[in-house]
Amino acid sequence: MFSPAQGEAGGAYRAFGWDRDGHSTTMDDSSACITTCEDGPLLLRGSFQLLTQDGQVIDPGRRTVALCRCGWSAIKPFCDGTHKSVGFQAPSAPTSERPLGYD
Ligand code: FES
Repeated sequence: MFSPAQGEAGGAYRAFGWDRDGHSTTMDDSSACITTCEDGPLLLRGSFQLLTQDGQVIDPGRRTVALCRCGWSAIKPFCDGTHKSVGFQAPSAPTSERPLGYD
C-alpha cells in the first residue's frame, strides 16, 4: 500500500507540499519540484543542479532555494525578498492557457 513515507516500489518519498484540496503531495529523492509562489519567487526543492547558461554550476548552498522572478533581487538568480517591497504581483497558477505551438 502506498504511503507518503514510502512509495509503491519501496522507494523513499517525502511530503513536500499540499494540493488545492489539502492532500499532501510527495516526490521521490531523485526528483526536483518548482513551486510558483503568489507574488513571490520560484521555490526549487529536491535533487537539482543549478547552471548558468554556459553550463557553469551555481552552488545553491542549500537543498531548497528561492529563485527571483520579479527581477529586482540584488543576488540574482536568488530571491532576496525585494519582491515584497517593490510590490511584485504574479499569480501562482497560470491565468490563461499557453498559445498553440508554444514550447
Ligand atoms: S522574487 Fe524575490 S526578490 Fe525577486
